[in-house]
Amino acid sequence: MATEARLGTSFMKYGTVTSLLVVLVAYWYRPPLQGSELDGRLDAVLSSLLRAESKVGVNDVARPKVAIGFGGCVDLIVDGVDLLNKIGLPPTDQPLHHDYIKNAEQLAQSFAYFFAPGAASERFVMNETLFSLLVEASRELPGNRWAVGGNAPVMASRMAAEGCDVLLGGSFSTDFNDMFSQHIMVAGNTLDEPDIHLIMEYPSGATWGPYTSRRANRYIVHSDDHNPYLDSMGHFEEKLQDFQPDLLVVGGLQMMDNFPFKHGEREALLGHLSHLMSSASAETSVHFEMASFVDEGLLSDLLELVLPHADSLGMNEQELPNLLSLFRGANVTVLSDPNPRVATVLDQMRELYRLVNEEHRELGLGRALTRLHVHTLAFQAMIVTRGSQWKNTMSAVAKAALTANRHVCGSPDIDPSKARLIMDESFSVSARTGSHRIPLEESRPVSCWDEDDYQICVAPVLVCTEVYQTAGGGDNISAAGLVLQI
Ligand SMILES: *[C@@H]1O[C@H](CO)[C@@H](O)[C@H](O)[C@H]1NC(C)=O
Ligand SMILES: *[C@@H]1O[C@H](CO)[C@@H](O)[C@H](O)[C@H]1NC(C)=O
Ligand SMILES: *[C@@H]1O[C@H](CO)[C@@H](O)[C@H](O)[C@H]1NC(C)=O
Repeated sequence: MATEARLGTSFMKYGTVTSLLVVLVAYWYRPPLQGSELDGRLDAVLSSLLRAESKVGVNDVARPKVAIGFGGCVDLIVDGVDLLNKIGLPPTDQPLHHDYIKNAEQLAQSFAYFFAPGAASERFVMNETLFSLLVEASRELPGNRWAVGGNAPVMASRMAAEGCDVLLGGSFSTDFNDMFSQHIMVAGNTLDEPDIHLIMEYPSGATWGPYTSRRANRYIVHSDDHNPYLDSMGHFEEKLQDFQPDLLVVGGLQMMDNFPFKHGEREALLGHLSHLMSSASAETSVHFEMASFVDEGLLSDLLELVLPHADSLGMNEQELPNLLSLFRGANVTVLSDPNPRVATVLDQMRELYRLVNEEHRELGLGRALTRLHVHTLAFQAMIVTRGSQWKNTMSAVAKAALTANRHVCGSPDIDPSKARLIMDESFSVSARTGSHRIPLEESRPVSCWDEDDYQICVAPVLVCTEVYQTAGGGDNISAAGLVLQI
């Protein structure tokens, strides 16, 4: 109810209650959209999003400085079903969740578990024989691609491309170092053999035995030797002193998930990271990018040692309920609705924001959470504390929405004929009964309003229908959102 009252007042800024009613009534009586009318609507949303994105630019006189850790890898991108067929792995009749993968049967079960709903997932393969076999088979698959991968390098490349100077904490082979933009300075070791991540992509409607994927996504497996140890952290920390970034980004920690560390090793690494983050100067904003975690021990360390030192969090629709569940003291959620409604996501965001900040006040250390960005297939949503250092939220959310299409379609120019709006024509701001609905207006597709001590912005994504790649999407999207806000 309180939400409703506050919303009411902020709506009053844009018009009277009567005109709001007129809009709503007009919306209710609008006939269902079809064919060319729909295309017209897409074009209008696209041009409005582009206008919102270009309202503000990145400061190119004094390029913003961003430090990003940790890790990196070579991504080997293949069609997931083709790969399973190639190694002769028959579809399992038992989709099952496994924290990590020990053999081919578990791989089949785990893949089936996430493939049908189309949920993003990433798992450690404990069996090196199996992992090499998968990599060898992928090398021989027609249509395979290699790319620089890992959260930190992808975010670094996007930030550099958007006009930032970047310090990247990661260990790479020499040929890799040459591929990075001149605006990226690498801090880390030089490796002979970089870690390989196998990205098993699948389009919407792909089939594997009895399973059909509900949306395009990817299942990732890795068997890293370097990344779990955050082995660039020492070098990164040294250079950080002089670099004095405007923004420090921490990601890639999911490589520690279910990794067979020696006793106390993981805690020591995260303790070191905690110290690094808490030493950042007050002028440096700190962002933590969530990922697909299922290791409860690791998650509780993250909650204690990492999260309290971040003012900003980024995550997808799977990671949000998982983190929220942990904050409520419950178990990991392995699989959530891959196509959640706006109201559901906003309610989860409000609760996470409240719980994180309550804990911050109780502990009396670290930083308050002032920015929360959630990316889903259908829309982008952000909560930003009013009066905080984060600026241009509306344009940032528009840019994040556009980047989602650009990344997945693999092209900087958005082609409306390869896009679809799957967000409803209006959304409810909360699942609570009596909550307001906001219509999706073509000429003002980004909706922003005030509640409590924060602003919420929501933007629809023009969902790409000819998928080039989903992996790395979250990193590109998060980086694109951040770049306009520092
Ligand atoms: C590891 O994978 C290989 C290849 O699939 C398999 O032959 C072997 O039994 C697996 N090892 C274990 C411990 O499951
Ligand atoms: C929650 O986690 C505990 C400890 O790992 C486990 O024993 C319990 O079965 C889990 N509960 C559910 C509902 O998954
Ligand atoms: C996402 O980031 C990677 C790494 O920088 C880049 O290769 C890819 O083109 C990016 N996608 C878009 C749409 O910029």
